[in-house]
Amino acid sequence: MNNNILVTGGSGQLAQVLKTNKIKKNNYKYFFTSKKKLDICKFKDIESFIIKNKINIIINCAAFTDVDLAETNVNKANKVNNLSVKNLSLICIKYKILLVQISTDYVFDGNKKKVFFEYDKPFPKNKYGLTKLRGEKQITKYNIDSIIIRTSWLYSEFTNNFVKSIFNTINKNKNIELRNNSYGSPTYADDLVKFINLILSKKKYLFLFKKNYIFHFANLGCISRYQFVKKIIEFSKIKNTKIIKSYTNKNISNIRPICSCLKSKNLKIVKEFKYNKWDKSLLKCINKLKNK
Ligand SMILES: NC(=O)c1ccc[n+]([C@@H]2O[C@H](COP(=O)([O-])OP(=O)(O)OC[C@H]3O[C@@H](n4cnc5c(N)ncnc54)[C@H](OP(=O)(O)O)[C@@H]3O)[C@@H](O)[C@H]2O)c1
Repeated sequence: MNNNILVTGGSGQLAQVLKTNKIKKNNYKYFFTSKKKLDICKFKDIESFIIKNKINIIINCAAFTDVDLAETNVNKANKVNNLSVKNLSLICIKYKILLVQISTDYVFDGNKKKVFFEYDKPFPKNKYGLTKLRGEKQITKYNIDSIIIRTSWLYSEFTNNFVKSIFNTINKNKNIELRNNSYGSPTYADDLVKFINLILSKKKYLFLFKKNYIFHFANLGCISRYQFVKKIIEFSKIKNTKIIKSYTNKNISNIRPICSCLKSKNLKIVKEFKYNKWDKSLLKCINKLKNK
């Protein structure tokens, strides 16, 4: 059987990583669509694209990801993160398509101050998390063949992300000003993509879609931003960089969970996958950034 995979949000970070790590089998064909090429808020456009290209799998990487902007631009965030997921769900039912939806640790408020498992009740602290949670609910409401993968602190060699921005700053011999010291589970997008590819390439994992599994996928560990930055500096081997702690911006700390570390009970189903510790994966990414 042919597998025609539509990856939405094609210019974004995760889509870029998927593009460089495709499933290498003849019967897998990918379609990466940027917002300009295919706006996921436009139902008719998606439907025509799906029919024309005989899509049978969607990996929805498109999202409104600016956490701060979502507070003031809530209608737009809701349109992309929630209403468009309803569109995708309706299309998935109609054309019997498998959906991989990417979600976030920010569906949790962080008040537990411990790691969050799949069975923990989501309770978002900010509008970004709220709209992403609503998107998840669209999928469960329509009971389509899907998996939802919640990930956190995603980084890679592509686009703008926390690791790249710290790496670039220290390479300019500038000090790092750390404005918030929340706790989270950093996730190397390469590892997440390997997990998605494994699930999509083996028939034995098809049942996960039938049962609408939710997975918490993050690298192993629950660390502070401070520890994260310290490791980025250590692995970059650049001396004399100072971390200046200025945890003063009340707006930022008010809308971001203090601790949104993810841990999983469900991942043990996918036994053959090798789960990496956060620092091991960080080292891989830093080495790639150094060689760029
Ligand atoms: N980055 C993280 O730390 C993180 C953490 C947890 C979960 N996640 C989730 O992981 C997924 C991938 O994140 P990412 O890091 O790859 O984010 P990203 O780099 O911001 O990519 C999202 C992409 O979606 C596109 N997009 C926005 N509105 C769209 C629309 N209406 N139609 C089509 N495309 C649209 C964006 O285009 P424009 O840039 O042109 O708007 C962007 O290219 C998202 O679901 C996100 O919620 C990310």
